[in-house]
Amino acid sequence: MDKEKLITTAKTMMQSPKGILAMDESSPTIGKRLGSIGVDNNETNRVKYRELIVTTPKLSDYVSGAILFDETFHQKMSTGILFRDYLNSIGILPGIKVDKGAKDLSNHPSEKITEGLDGLRERLSEYADKGAKFCKWRAVITIGDSIPSTACIFGNTHALSRYASLCQEHSLVPIVEPEILINGNHSIQACYTVTKTVLDSLFEQLTIMDVFLEGTVLKPSMVISGTENKKRANYDDVAKTTIECLKLCLPNELAGVAFLSGGQTDEESTMHLNIMNKSNKSLPWRVTFSYARAIQQSALQSWLGKDDNIKKAQAVLADRAEKCSLASIGSL
Ligand code: 13P
Repeated sequence: MDKEKLITTAKTMMQSPKGILAMDESSPTIGKRLGSIGVDNNETNRVKYRELIVTTPKLSDYVSGAILFDETFHQKMSTGILFRDYLNSIGILPGIKVDKGAKDLSNHPSEKITEGLDGLRERLSEYADKGAKFCKWRAVITIGDSIPSTACIFGNTHALSRYASLCQEHSLVPIVEPEILINGNHSIQACYTVTKTVLDSLFEQLTIMDVFLEGTVLKPSMVISGTENKKRANYDDVAKTTIECLKLCLPNELAGVAFLSGGQTDEESTMHLNIMNKSNKSLPWRVTFSYARAIQQSALQSWLGKDDNIKKAQAVLADRAEKCSLASIGSL
């Protein structure tokens, strides 16, 4: 583990006023996104869409790193240049999603466990050799009747910490992502309790595994009411409760925090982040974004798979990325 390298990469990822672009949808997930605009999920269209994203003018003003799916990491753009090389050439660090997805957790109906530890050391070695600078692993926690179980929380936070340790062995910065799903009718208080339990467990596991926190980035969900809750908490409450929870659970030496958007609307995702940063000027860590849908969704809707719409879609994407960037410094 090269600690200096980990610190340098993590600082670059967390540089102000930027965030991290998540564009690492697996092939089935990108298929759902393309399907929503009537576009076939084939390699040509996946390249076309992702090329639209990375060639968006001024993207590197707002984004320090981009998380790629394995296919994109090894893929060439229409110009013949590899996506990862193109990103490097415009000053955006290429990162890679390395988990193998959330699968059913044995004997725990409705709960998931993220797989992908087998063979991970060898895969990380290849990604590092080919120029990846950081990685992502996403765990999924569902709030519902009597869940999440201790088994689900412990299994996932343990896997996250083993993944993080392996990444650092290869001097790759791990993004650890314990996503508490927004689906459901739970209250913000219920989300707070679950988020606190999960984050406490995660940092306990990371500490047990001797994970180097100055070279680790946390990608949490915000503390928020479920989408089906009748009395959803307002922007100020979400921002305040989220920061309260982070302050209680996160060690000061952590390299930074980059939120997922998790199904929030574009406006919610930027307003929440903006208020957090506007109201808290002296947090121990930078608090920024690592959004997929809240950056991409409106651009996808403008594109509709048509070449004539590419420029318009890129303008929409740049606007979303700029708003996220401003929110990351509380200046929206
Ligand atoms: P969303 O911002 O769409 O939640 O995606 C972020 C992400 O990377 C999920 O793993």
